Amino acid sequence: MRDAALLDDARGKLTKDGIRIHEAADFKGMHVAGKLAAQILDDIAPHVFPGQSTAEIDRVITDMIEKAGATSATIGYKGYQHASCISVNHAVCHGIPGPKTLKDGDILNIDVTVIVDGWFGDTSRMYVAGKLPRKAERLIEVTHDALMKGIEAVRPGKTFGDIGHAIQAYVEAHRMSVVRDFCGHGLGRVFHAAPNVLHYGRPGSGAKLEEGMFFTIEPMVNLGRPETKTLADDWTAVTRDKSLSAQFEHSIGVTSDGAEIFTLSPGGLFHPTYG
Ligand code: MF3
Ligand code: CO
Ligand code: CO
Repeated sequence: MRDAALLDDARGKLTKDGIRIHEAADFKGMHVAGKLAAQILDDIAPHVFPGQSTAEIDRVITDMIEKAGATSATIGYKGYQHASCISVNHAVCHGIPGPKTLKDGDILNIDVTVIVDGWFGDTSRMYVAGKLPRKAERLIEVTHDALMKGIEAVRPGKTFGDIGHAIQAYVEAHRMSVVRDFCGHGLGRVFHAAPNVLHYGRPGSGAKLEEGMFFTIEPMVNLGRPETKTLADDWTAVTRDKSLSAQFEHSIGVTSDGAEIFTLSPGGLFHPTYG
């Protein structure tokens, strides 16, 4: 009898770039984990309104994860202590939930990662407190559509550069900028694995996509310049020029002819303005 680690090693294989190729049965595990993360993002929507604190939103998310019998991937991750990242207005990502309350017209990204039966589901989307300002609406639409362009570029034989290029070309055609300081990532039975999934790039560059790869695509798009800085809390990334920023994230798997999105919204609520 071999030990568990050896058995685990024997499942699937790694490419020369260190990217894990998962087996057909593994898609089911990712589907279940991704669906729970997406359901939580659906169910949190009524908790976003002017006057609400981001700490309260995070508390509700923590409860939902516990009630589902799942585990938060972020609590305890590199010292992070919350079940979500909540990034408001010019915060790009990794915003820490806190007592500050939302104002009418604030836009925010809520990012949740859960573990179900050892599989990781990682997804984020945009919300608005109260009335969505026109400028923010345009940013949110372009960011959402850029993610979907990236996913449309996924199929065996294409490359990670093709994904990044599709996103960058779309965003820059709308005179917005792609953040370079953060990227998507491989995931599966681990949170962050090879490869780094860049949201910019040249067609045909980077590793080739193969059936069985699992990774996130999670573009961050700014109305102004792409540069970010990290606040003194050591987590919250913000735009240097204080321009508004948006992000959407899906966890996906490469299939024989495209991509399976593990984190589709059960209620069709992924996009805040048109479902
Ligand atoms: N969910 C984030 C991602 O998309 C990672 C958050 S790590 C945390 O990769 F520690 F900040 F929560
Ligand atoms: Co992610
Ligand atoms: Co995430």
